[in-house]
Amino acid sequence: MLIDGQVALVTGGGSGLGAATARNLAARGARVAILDFAIDKSQAVAAEIGGIALQADVSDEAAVGAAFDAAAAHFGSAPRIVVSCAGIGLAARIVGRENKLSFDVFEKTLRVNLFGTYNVMSHAAARMGDLDPLYGGERGVIVNTASVAFEDGQLGQAAYAASKGAIASMCLPAAREFARTGIRVMAIAPGLFYTPMMEGLPPEVAEKIAANIPFPPRLGDPQEYAMLAEQIITNPFLNGTTIRLDGAVRLPPK
Ligand SMILES: NC(=O)c1ccc[n+]([C@@H]2O[C@H](COP(=O)([O-])OP(=O)(O)OC[C@H]3O[C@@H](n4cnc5c(N)ncnc54)[C@H](O)[C@@H]3O)[C@@H](O)[C@H]2O)c1
Repeated sequence: MLIDGQVALVTGGGSGLGAATARNLAARGARVAILDFAIDKSQAVAAEIGGIALQADVSDEAAVGAAFDAAAAHFGSAPRIVVSCAGIGLAARIVGRENKLSFDVFEKTLRVNLFGTYNVMSHAAARMGDLDPLYGGERGVIVNTASVAFEDGQLGQAAYAASKGAIASMCLPAAREFARTGIRVMAIAPGLFYTPMMEGLPPEVAEKIAANIPFPPRLGDPQEYAMLAEQIITNPFLNGTTIRLDGAVRLPPK
């Protein structure tokens, strides 16, 4: 799909991978709505790129629907491009010290990362299906964000890996379901990227992480995520799968 002139919605667009994606889509001519919990950050990015900021918790089904309606009302069309980057990275052992169980972490992580992505995808597809088809019958593209932890989750990442594994697993059935309306669904599984999620790490920890990345031996640049999202949107034959974007990293057990 040609990006120029399309309406795009990016969740988590106030920060990190989502902010880079929102900026890149705007640079390619898209009109961009940023859906984020953190309204101050998303307003700053929106002001920079001439887009709009919508405050919503992705795990709140009604709030996500209202944000899609607000984007459509503002731009005069429902988004044809939707990129889900909102997510959290909580860590906890399944059975912690003194047998403390971490159901709360599991539930919260699944609620935001998985249910949130599902909410956004379902609201996106419902509206895209009503749009006119473009060249080749295409109506829309949905890009979800997994993580390399969907395959090599580390100790303490049971909840995070489960949420990202489910995002990867639902990509194919979603693409199959939406095929008849010309909507593609893809997922990106990033390795280790330099975003606010990582900026808080002490330098020695960041160096240790980078040392595990074969090539290039550094953290990923959010712009590299944005480049892959752009390629997925513009390449009509990419559908129903998850792409690792990781410099060949394989996460060690811990
Ligand atoms: N940074 C990495 O190395 C890395 C690696 C693999 C996967 N990922 C995934 O990429 C995505 C983006 O990560 P990032 O590093 O850019 O993170 P980030 O923390 O910089 O940005 C995440 C954004 O999501 C928003 N958000 C969080 N919970 C939300 C909710 N419930 N509703 C609405 N917005 C919410 C935050 O306000 C923030 O603006 C996440 O899904 C993360 O799991 C990141």
